Amino acid sequence: MAEPVSGIKACVFDAYGTLFDVNSAAARLAPELGENWLRLAETWRSRQLQYTWLRSLMGAHADFERVTREALDIALETVGIANPVLADRLMALYFHLDAYPEVPAVLRALKARELHTAILSNGSPRMLAAAVGNAGIAPDLDAVLSVEAVGVYKPHPSVYALATGHFGIAKDEVLFLSSNGWDAHGAAHFGFRVVWINRFRQPVERLPGRVLSTLDDLSALPGLVHP
Ligand code: LAC
Repeated sequence: MAEPVSGIKACVFDAYGTLFDVNSAAARLAPELGENWLRLAETWRSRQLQYTWLRSLMGAHADFERVTREALDIALETVGIANPVLADRLMALYFHLDAYPEVPAVLRALKARELHTAILSNGSPRMLAAAVGNAGIAPDLDAVLSVEAVGVYKPHPSVYALATGHFGIAKDEVLFLSSNGWDAHGAAHFGFRVVWINRFRQPVERLPGRVLSTLDDLSALPGLVHP
């Protein structure tokens, strides 16, 4: 059961997996991808994240659009699909991911309570603008912050510092929401207050950073957060 959190000035959201359903691209093409579609979606996502961490360690940053495409290419090869046209269509769908159903109402409720709202994401500005526009949530977001401003991926502390810098607020005035356990821990280790949105019933990560509480989805958030 999540405890109320007070003294918050901004609710800052991870994008992929938290606001947007990353599996929805492959799901829409499931009839063409066949029974392997979920394995493809999961391999695509895990390679995408691994490549962000590896590029950050290598000091070889490339934007999330390139990383996502390279992850898609190895995921397709892993599941034995050789179809460049399908690959292009999957990549295009990544710009039109579905938002989770509760997202628009939650953002509106937070704005009505005079809290700042923002996305802080690995996504490139172009990808994020497309996903936000597609979901119709731009009016309820004060900022869409991309790692491209610092050229390194989460969970590097300089990424989380983009949010405190943008709003000119202290770390503990940020409530950060992520469905990615490793991102939740990275943000908590940085000094944000963090609620983990454990949509996929994952076990608790054994990583530094103390997460305040866990929710199954974002629906209960407006009732828990107070300025
Ligand atoms: C993001 C990834 C971590 O949006 O989901 O930053």
